[in-house]
Amino acid sequence: MKKILVVGAYGQIGSELTVALRNIYGVENVIASDKKTEPCESLKNGPFAYVDATNKDSILEIVKKYKIDAIVHLAAILSANGEKNPMLAWNVNMNGLLNVLEIAREYKMERVFVPSSIAVFGPTTPADNTPQETILQPTTMYGLTKVSGELLCNYYVNKYGLDIRGVRYPGIISYDTLPGGGTTDYAVAIYYDAIKYKKYTCFVKADTMLPMMYMPDCLKASTDLFQADFSKLKHHCNFNVGSMSFTVTELAASIKKYIPDFEIIYAPDYRQAIADSWPNSLDDSAARKEWGWKPSYDLDSMTRDMLEKLGEKHKKGLI
Ligand SMILES: NC(=O)c1ccc[n+]([C@@H]2O[C@H](COP(=O)([O-])OP(=O)(O)OC[C@H]3O[C@@H](n4cnc5c(N)ncnc54)[C@H](O)[C@@H]3O)[C@@H](O)[C@H]2O)c1
Repeated sequence: MKKILVVGAYGQIGSELTVALRNIYGVENVIASDKKTEPCESLKNGPFAYVDATNKDSILEIVKKYKIDAIVHLAAILSANGEKNPMLAWNVNMNGLLNVLEIAREYKMERVFVPSSIAVFGPTTPADNTPQETILQPTTMYGLTKVSGELLCNYYVNKYGLDIRGVRYPGIISYDTLPGGGTTDYAVAIYYDAIKYKKYTCFVKADTMLPMMYMPDCLKASTDLFQADFSKLKHHCNFNVGSMSFTVTELAASIKKYIPDFEIIYAPDYRQAIADSWPNSLDDSAARKEWGWKPSYDLDSMTRDMLEKLGEKHKKGLI
């Protein structure tokens, strides 16, 4: 691989995954692109460009300019925002993906990475230790697009022999870039508010349990799968990747260990129903077996690191 284009690079995951890829493949060889015009500071040391994934020509222009031979496609409308604007979610998540896949086919890309999500699961899916192969009947527009996206990617693997890979990310927790309107955003906001106000109003109930992952493990999962030997993979675009699962009560308790006067109150909104339709925990044995997936962080080690990093940002007046 010579040149990688990251589409949707300025979001929560892209702002850090692009840096991780630049560390592996070289700063000049990883082009950050997004529909937002201004990249985050961490991406300004390398090439960046405006791309609207829903406009095939806009992607093509950059593919040709930089002679791109691999695409990491992160542009999406996430679950909570998708429920506010389902047609936008369908357009960006489906037409954006189709444009990327068609360009990958036409220009014979060496590799494409497309993340899926635990949003592919729904209320009829077994909630505990959710199997790799199981019922996929999501109730959100975001979930619908993620199931269709997995199927579409597999179609391009089988029909055209393309190399496409992807994991079903759980809720991703990080301190660098704020999340972009998903249902698991509470698990990030709680740390910011704990540092800033010692108090958080949570939009899901205390006993809500979801699978989550700390950003360093998300970067590890993404770069490890990106570099894995394709011939050894039986699955391609839909790997379950587990890391940790906790209720909001457990999350708040882990923060209280370090900020004893931290308070949490509950005001569930429309996102409760989305959270209730998703699993508690995941069976990720396929990822472990096929490309050696193993997470490093648990709730306590993540909480310690999040509070330390956000505490430093707060002292500098950055949050
Ligand atoms: N963050 C999570 O917890 C999580 C969980 C599961 C799956 N995912 C998946 O990971 C991927 C990245 O998610 P994220 O959390 O970084 O999302 P995000 O919302 O933080 O970032 C998405 C980026 O895509 C850009 N974008 C939106 N529409 C675009 C378009 N038409 N053209 C180009 N760029 C566009 C946005 O400006 C944004 O910078 C998505 O596929 C998402 O579904 C994320």
